[in-house]
Amino acid sequence: MTDEPFRTIIEPFRIHSVEPVRLTTRAQRAAALAAAGYNLFALPAEDVLIDLLTDSGTGAMSAEQWAAIQRGNEAYAGAPSFYRFREAVTSLFPFTHVLPAHQGRAAEKILFTAACGPGMVVPNNTHFDTTRANVEFTGARAVDLPVPEGLRPAARHPFKGNMDVAALERLLSERAGDVPLVMLTVTNNSGGGQPVSMANVRAVREVCDRFGKPLFLDACRIAENAWFIRVREPGYQDRAVADIIREMAGLADGMTMSAKKDPLANIGGWLAMNDGDLAMRCRNLEILTEGFPTYGGLAGRDLEAIAQGLREAVDHDYLRYRVRSVEYLGEALERAGVPVVVPFGGHAVFIDARAMLPHIDPLAYPGQALACALYTEGGVRGCEIGTVMFGLRPDGTETAAPMDLVRLAIPRRTYTQSHIDYVIEVVTRVAERAGRLSGLRIVSQPGQLRHFTARFAPAG
Ligand code: F0G
Repeated sequence: MTDEPFRTIIEPFRIHSVEPVRLTTRAQRAAALAAAGYNLFALPAEDVLIDLLTDSGTGAMSAEQWAAIQRGNEAYAGAPSFYRFREAVTSLFPFTHVLPAHQGRAAEKILFTAACGPGMVVPNNTHFDTTRANVEFTGARAVDLPVPEGLRPAARHPFKGNMDVAALERLLSERAGDVPLVMLTVTNNSGGGQPVSMANVRAVREVCDRFGKPLFLDACRIAENAWFIRVREPGYQDRAVADIIREMAGLADGMTMSAKKDPLANIGGWLAMNDGDLAMRCRNLEILTEGFPTYGGLAGRDLEAIAQGLREAVDHDYLRYRVRSVEYLGEALERAGVPVVVPFGGHAVFIDARAMLPHIDPLAYPGQALACALYTEGGVRGCEIGTVMFGLRPDGTETAAPMDLVRLAIPRRTYTQSHIDYVIEVVTRVAERAGRLSGLRIVSQPGQLRHFTARFAPAG
């Protein structure tokens, strides 16, 4: 008898406790959306049926994680929960200094406050919105250097998340003195959840070495990235994901992390690095805003949940299911003729709203219009990643973002295949009537990170 695999890749768990979802009518949803100023962030979550706004902190914890929570030790300093957390982190990311933080952006805020300032430039394959905002908040400039394929939604490339190494080299030859560090986001969230190859990390490392610059990973989805390396990059097919992560971490000098993504926790993050001087400055800032460095804004029980989640995040059966479940949604939408970013990313399917709604000008926010339509049609909440999110410059002017996407992010271990089948039906129905959708205009907005709080009205 051979151990021949089955075609169906099942959820490698059974459901342990359930949370009811509430069905609403189209009229209720239309009213809720108008009251929310056409901003899906302003909706009460109970009015959402399938919530694909984010995969951040929205996953289901395992029985072992809930059990670990009971072991949480809440000592202000030196809690055993911190040491268990640090052990789990350094077993994958062998950095000398590990500073817990309440979530990823807190780690970013500390790092960039310590390392950046006016006149500086931080290159990244593509900054996530909070990363960009934290860089810009110090007066520095955040520069995205994705490979050209990364900006073409329909271009098939196994590692569309890669950084353009030649562009990095050019930037460093011109402005090395202004660059405090280089960052790689794995997977590249804003670029479509696309992975970065180990070869690219190695090439970036070489350039950093030549210019004497530290390399930091924004490692929120590094387990999914490592899975893609395992299945797509020559030479990695027999390697364990944990091992691939260690290899990548070994090429870097530090990292920021949101434990709300791949580490399968509902809250948490950390900052890690090898440089002792930088770590000392970061620790002082951490105490100012997050807390003592052995809890960093988290309860001991949260540290325990993260430690256990990290062990589960690198399990191959889990990752195979995870990546397949995203692909399942993407393939069905592609079959239905919906323009989607290909290949599919690790945590989300990205719909190309600009291609789907060519009659809506980017400055009338096709991504926002599509996200609103998906909610009104079927109570599905996605997230615009486009001109609303990235179009407002620090000087207050507005331009079209490189792409107008709607991200359907899949929370980890949370929805079943029939939930996803329902989403496919909703998106397909909206796509069939795409020509009838119209754009939006902004009624009010803040000066930064406007997508969270801006209010809109139908255009025209
Ligand atoms: N870096 C990346 C690549 C992210 O995707 C996020 C968060 C962060 C940093 C910040 O981490 O939320 O813990 O403060 N992304 C979420 C999302 C919010 O929906 O993609 P955080």
